[in-house]
Amino acid sequence: MKKFAAKAASALCAFGLSMAMTASVQAAADNEAIIERIKPVGSVCVQGDENCGGAASAAAASTSGARSGEEIYTGKCAACHASGVLGAPKFGTNEMQLRLDEKGMETLLSHAINGFNAMPPRGTCSDCSDEEIEAAVNHMLGQ
Ligand code: HEC
Repeated sequence: MKKFAAKAASALCAFGLSMAMTASVQAAADNEAIIERIKPVGSVCVQGDENCGGAASAAAASTSGARSGEEIYTGKCAACHASGVLGAPKFGTNEMQLRLDEKGMETLLSHAINGFNAMPPRGTCSDCSDEEIEAAVNHMLGQ
């Protein structure tokens, strides 16, 4: 009885295995199609990252699609910086310039990108690139 069961099991196994293999090959193909379909539209790419499909093309994409500092400012930053909500350096005054003189551009940019007290990271513009944030800061500085 035991022997028979083992034989039957191994026969079933061999059959099952080949079925399973065809099925899993099919499933893998399906999975790839699904992953391809649901993958994010954009991907974040660090300069020098080899998985980026070429740093040059990434750089080209980010410059060609970049919005102007004025656009970013008007759409994203003016909500607080036009009136100086919560102590935000007010647009059209020298308040941002004074901060620049005091802290330097590197600190201003790092605060604009990472957030600083009531200043939210990227001024809530989560899809703004570092370059776009910098352009917006320059716009606020009147440049
Ligand atoms: C929700 C309101 C809000 C929005 C939106 C906002 N800011 Fe600010 N921002 C602030 C406040 C408040 C401060 C002052 C923080 C402080 O000094 O404590 C500030 C300060 C800054 C500073 C000076 C940081 C420093 O080190 O003194 C920069 C630069 C800046 N914002 C850039 C931006 C840019 C660029 C945008 C748009 C992409 C933006 N902000 C959108 C509220 C905002």
